[in-house]
Amino acid sequence: MLAEPFYWHPGMWKMLIVVMCVALLGCLQAQELQEHVSIILLGATGDLAKKYLWQGLFQLYLDEVGRGHSFSFHGAALTAPKQGQELMAKALESLSCPKDMAPSHCAEEKDQFLQLSRYRQLKTAEDYQALNKDIEAQLQHAGLREAGRIFYFSVPPFAYADIARNINSSCRPGPGAWLRVVLEKPFGHDHFSAQQLATELGSFFQEEEMYRVDHYLGKQAVAQILPFRDQNRKALDSLWNRHHVERVEIIMKETVDAEGRTSFYEEYGVIRDVLQNHLTEVLTLVAMELPLNVSSAEAVLRHKLQVFQALRGLQRGSAVVGQYQSYSEQVRRELQKPDSFHSLTPTFAAVLVHIDNLRWEGVPFILMSGKALDERVGYARILFKNQACCVQSEKHWAAAQSQCLPRQLIFHIGHGDLGSPAVLVSRNLFRPSLPSSWKEMEGPPGLRLFGSPLSDYYAYSPVQERDAHSVLLSHIFHGRKDSFITTENLLASWGFWTPLLESLAHKAPRLYPGGAENGRLLDFEFSSGRLFFSQQQPEQLVPGPGPAPMPSDFQVLRAKYRESPLVSAWSEELISKLANDIEATAVRAVRRFGQFHLALSGGSSPVALFQQLATAHYGFPWAHTHLWLVDERCVPLSDPESNFQGLQAHLLQHVRVPYYNIHPMPVHLQQRLCAEEDQGAQIYAREISALVANSSFDLVLLGMGADGHTASLFPQSPTGLDGEQLVVLTTSPSQPHRRMSLSLPLINRAKKVAVLVMGRMKREITALVSRVGYEPKKWPISGVLPHSGQLVWYMDYDAFLA
Ligand code: BG6
Repeated sequence: MLAEPFYWHPGMWKMLIVVMCVALLGCLQAQELQEHVSIILLGATGDLAKKYLWQGLFQLYLDEVGRGHSFSFHGAALTAPKQGQELMAKALESLSCPKDMAPSHCAEEKDQFLQLSRYRQLKTAEDYQALNKDIEAQLQHAGLREAGRIFYFSVPPFAYADIARNINSSCRPGPGAWLRVVLEKPFGHDHFSAQQLATELGSFFQEEEMYRVDHYLGKQAVAQILPFRDQNRKALDSLWNRHHVERVEIIMKETVDAEGRTSFYEEYGVIRDVLQNHLTEVLTLVAMELPLNVSSAEAVLRHKLQVFQALRGLQRGSAVVGQYQSYSEQVRRELQKPDSFHSLTPTFAAVLVHIDNLRWEGVPFILMSGKALDERVGYARILFKNQACCVQSEKHWAAAQSQCLPRQLIFHIGHGDLGSPAVLVSRNLFRPSLPSSWKEMEGPPGLRLFGSPLSDYYAYSPVQERDAHSVLLSHIFHGRKDSFITTENLLASWGFWTPLLESLAHKAPRLYPGGAENGRLLDFEFSSGRLFFSQQQPEQLVPGPGPAPMPSDFQVLRAKYRESPLVSAWSEELISKLANDIEATAVRAVRRFGQFHLALSGGSSPVALFQQLATAHYGFPWAHTHLWLVDERCVPLSDPESNFQGLQAHLLQHVRVPYYNIHPMPVHLQQRLCAEEDQGAQIYAREISALVANSSFDLVLLGMGADGHTASLFPQSPTGLDGEQLVVLTTSPSQPHRRMSLSLPLINRAKKVAVLVMGRMKREITALVSRVGYEPKKWPISGVLPHSGQLVWYMDYDAFLA
């Protein structure tokens, strides 16, 4: 065979160019590593700086300077130069070197680091301009090229905006160099304030310039979760799911209390301080789908966000809260409150979280944290189910083989009896693989952890323990964004926690004495989507905040409203009562007619009902239930705004209703939304007539809007309030304006109509509608009067007790 003559094919030119570009890029990157980095620590004399940041910066210097980087460190604060310089010198006194460094070498390095560190006052716009000039002059003088600048905001959030404005207007590095601003929590107080803060910061910095710190992401055991899952994919792939995981516990217990920082703590409490951030971050790392490439920051952040999207909404019953007994006294003293003041701020919380996706559906994730507890320890514990039966007696069980011993994997964040970060894997699970920076460890003899002797675990700890901030500083330096909180993730987290925080705002926490004396007082249990203290509310140790609960608080009130039966209770009891009533109606209908036709409303009120039906009603005859929609927004069914989507997310995906029994409204036909000529309303009406005897639903669930609307029948609606039509197109005053709705005449043919009304926002309309007669044009809800069926009102106390 003749060899092809060698010639430069055009594709080869292209390849050569690509290779040259890659090489050039490599050179540029290599060169970038030689460049100068200025680090400006704002709040350089504060607590965090003294305790962790200066040491972290020194460690960064030790790690990177040997690789050819040059640095300058600018400690900054509002304090005048002389005094600031002194304070900073104090903060720098206690720098320490790694254990294996010779003392003389250590002294030399420290000396050089101190030479590179200068204090400067940063107060006015001119101060920032002067800083910029100094950095530029220094670069020029030493003939250095600038790689970038890191501004570390170790200051309270109220100072952020001013600093951000000044940096943005006068301290940005020149073209080709990066800017990284590092922010410490709190990042807001709830979803709204977090959004405001994010918008404000977003007006000064690009998303990629911001590094929001959650120091738990720098804890070695936490930072190891993803690499561990990646390196042990083979063993974990089949285990990391609802079929094998019994539950996940994410715990941070502290012995300290909030004394000395009640001015902060009183505003935040344990959920905002720890659960919303540290524990939620750990949860996402455990629960997220593992990206193919765990070192891709973009993929990691995207997968984390997906976890938030799958979190089931929290309700008041998802959490228990406590407060150590001396807390209110500390607040009174530190914040000069009157003797009568009792705080409602929780210092302890346990929350049951569910993730509604295929991997984790049904697996309880318990998040718990508290101050003044009996020990200081943090961990994420994944407890696996044990479905094995061992025939031989226990004395023949061997830790490595017996499937009957507990099977668990623990990312031990720190402290506790073990006293260090660790990864523990039950020997009967698998032998894990860890990077060389982790070594097999031995604990004190006789140590038992999580119910088993340490010898039952493969146990690993880091070769060299590192403080979280120093790990994160290194990640900032290397631009590893996956160790930080993006705006999107932050808002998703607040979006998840804010409703719970609001619902707990007036709840009196259980008082506990603190430390070992807590006994079993804070023990809790969970079932059917709710979490509760194991022991009944004990005698208050001191008079509790707020009025004592009345027995009537816990009863379901029965009365009449607009001449029809009314059931009223606190929202959770109300929902569970309504769910029971629906189930009973369904069971009766199926017994008599072989099927149950249920028409459901959308919106936020029924969400808790759907969740209740999905989790706690095992006797519900779903296989014989037909589900219809009371109304729909004219958006695609997959749109989050769609009522069907809410039904799908909170109910359908958890229960087994045959597909052919599910009847979404046809709002999206011929790729158009609610076009008259597509006759969607008529199609739905025909479907109802064909399947529902006499077009009479067994049960219609309605809500009541603050303007008196029900279904999508709004005041003055030209359609749907009377006439022959069963299903109509209507217009809503709020977006999306176009709707499809069952008509009043159709609703009134139902055998039973339940109207669910919840929340304070409904107080006024509830009071008004109680007084008006039949005036559907003004208040469509007043036209709900089933001809031969029954109408029952379900109202929570917030809506009803006006
Ligand atoms: C902080 C909280 O974020 O984390 C403190 O504000 C808490 O209240 C601290 O004590 C716990 O962190 P670590 O690193 O000591 O576990």
